[in-house]
Amino acid sequence: RISCRASSAAPPKTALKDFIHISDFDKETIMKILHRASEVKAQLKSGDRSFQPFKGKSLAMIFAKPSMRTRVSFETGFFLLGGHAIYLGPDDIQMGKREETRDVARVLSGYNDIIMARVFAHQDILDLAKYAPVPVVNGLTDYNHPVQIMADALTMIEHIGKLEGTKVVYVGDGNNIVHSWLLLASVVPFHFVCACPKGFEPDEKTIQKARSTGISKIEISYDPKEAVKGADVIYSDVWASMGQKEEASYRKQRFQGFQVDEALMELAGPKAYFMHCLPAERGVEVTDGVIEAPNSIVFPQAENRMHAQNAIMLHLFGL
Ligand code: CP
Repeated sequence: RISCRASSAAPPKTALKDFIHISDFDKETIMKILHRASEVKAQLKSGDRSFQPFKGKSLAMIFAKPSMRTRVSFETGFFLLGGHAIYLGPDDIQMGKREETRDVARVLSGYNDIIMARVFAHQDILDLAKYAPVPVVNGLTDYNHPVQIMADALTMIEHIGKLEGTKVVYVGDGNNIVHSWLLLASVVPFHFVCACPKGFEPDEKTIQKARSTGISKIEISYDPKEAVKGADVIYSDVWASMGQKEEASYRKQRFQGFQVDEALMELAGPKAYFMHCLPAERGVEVTDGVIEAPNSIVFPQAENRMHAQNAIMLHLFGL
């Protein structure tokens, strides 16, 4: 009988094999990926489907948590560039429960050229990347959401003309989106303010890490009216994220005064854009009027998930 037991030693990992945190990359690489995203987007928007760099490649998409944007943008984006994407939902895979993450990593790497995973615990994506010989892309954890922030950065460049030197004010919970902004601010210089209620600040270590680079101005504010003044972007997200739904009514109380409404947008000034990673709870963290206003760029932002992710995968493949 032939044994097919794999070695338990983790394969060697090159620094940039995976896309797990934006701060793993330098500014030049981030900007190069964003530039590539614009080029590939323009080609796709022109109707030209001749660029097929993912032809013959397959993407395994692990979803331990629900998603609309992440699933559809990865699957469609990979398909449009010639590849094939496979969806694995919670009924197909239970990393760390039915099967060890290191086994999942090596089995899927035998079938696929790249893995994207939305997992809950951040350690799971680190383990997946450690044990998978193929590139791993982080599609959201309880700590960060790097592909979302790459799409956000692309959207800012398209609408404001730049990312560097802008003022981004996030209003709400200091969650995984905020951590991603802080990690981006560790690499690209801009002014980032997180306006949140006391007790809902982002992870202190991540704030310190971003501040220690000295690259960006980083502030935590408890006064959204003051924080938004002069902003280029006001950014919001749901007040109760993954694993916090049971606290939703308590959070609604604590976040009073942190809704992005027309009055807050007016305080920011006429040049301020509204952004949100979606899904949004209209009437809770943002009013219907703000999301529907001409300076709301939430839908181009959602579309850019696909283009930013395609460029990230092209970069990881060295294409
Ligand atoms: N913004 C985002 O990640 O959306 P989904 O949860 O729909 O993937």
